[in-house]
Amino acid sequence: MPELTTTPAGAAAKLPRHIAAIMDGNGRWARLRGLPRSAGHAAGAETFRRIATYCRDLGLEHFTVYAFSTENWKRSADEVDAIMGLLKKYLLESIEKMERDRIRLKILGDTSALSGELRELIDATDAIARRLSGCFQANVCLNYGGRDEIVRAVKRFCSEHPAGELTERALSDSLDTAGIPDPDLIIRTGGEYRLSNFLLWESAYSELVFSDVLWPDFTPEDIDAAIAEFARRDRRYGGVTS
Ligand code: IPE
Ligand code: IPE
Ligand code: MG
Repeated sequence: MPELTTTPAGAAAKLPRHIAAIMDGNGRWARLRGLPRSAGHAAGAETFRRIATYCRDLGLEHFTVYAFSTENWKRSADEVDAIMGLLKKYLLESIEKMERDRIRLKILGDTSALSGELRELIDATDAIARRLSGCFQANVCLNYGGRDEIVRAVKRFCSEHPAGELTERALSDSLDTAGIPDPDLIIRTGGEYRLSNFLLWESAYSELVFSDVLWPDFTPEDIDAAIAEFARRDRRYGGVTS
């Protein structure tokens, strides 16, 4: 396991199980270089591969990223197509390498609005993922919105348990993230201080870290720094420090 050079002594015990990232700043990264926004998304996809691999090597259980929100359909058809093309490429790679790399891929979000081709690739990755247990999991939120996820979860619960009592636990078990521990740490890059509809239910007690770095420039050292910041936080969950 690599050394966490920026982490204070004893912090290894405070390694988060689950880090989530709002990968923001791809468009600005491209604009700064006089490139089309799609080039920023391509660079961002490379950063995602690098950071996911690093999180696996650190010993995290889950790394979740916000790749495309339910609101991102407002962008131009060219930009949406470019993002969907990159996701297709990543799904194809995962089908080929998921077992070798031991990165179990899970797509979260409303996949019903995606193209038939993407849905078939997601079905193929799900079939491989079912065979892989006990390894690091990368969750990619695609056509994902926290509010949409909650509404779909309530509908799912009501159709599966018409006479059941809706509890916090029951709702958690009906979400796209069922079975995934809540994120301990949520990082947003790109200098904005908001959640933009990401993991609204699951983030109830997540620690939040904001970085001005544009996502394509985000490095493993920036992950180390965010984990070090996380390790300094006192998570009280509404209680008091003893
Ligand atoms: C985040 O980068 C990626 C997606 C939302 C798909 P942006 O594309 O939002 O980049 P900025 O915020 O315009 O720089
Ligand atoms: C959030 O970024 C969505 C993703 C990173 C996929 P946005 O760029 O869409 O968020 P806003 O518009 O700044 O809130
Ligand atoms: Mg943005």
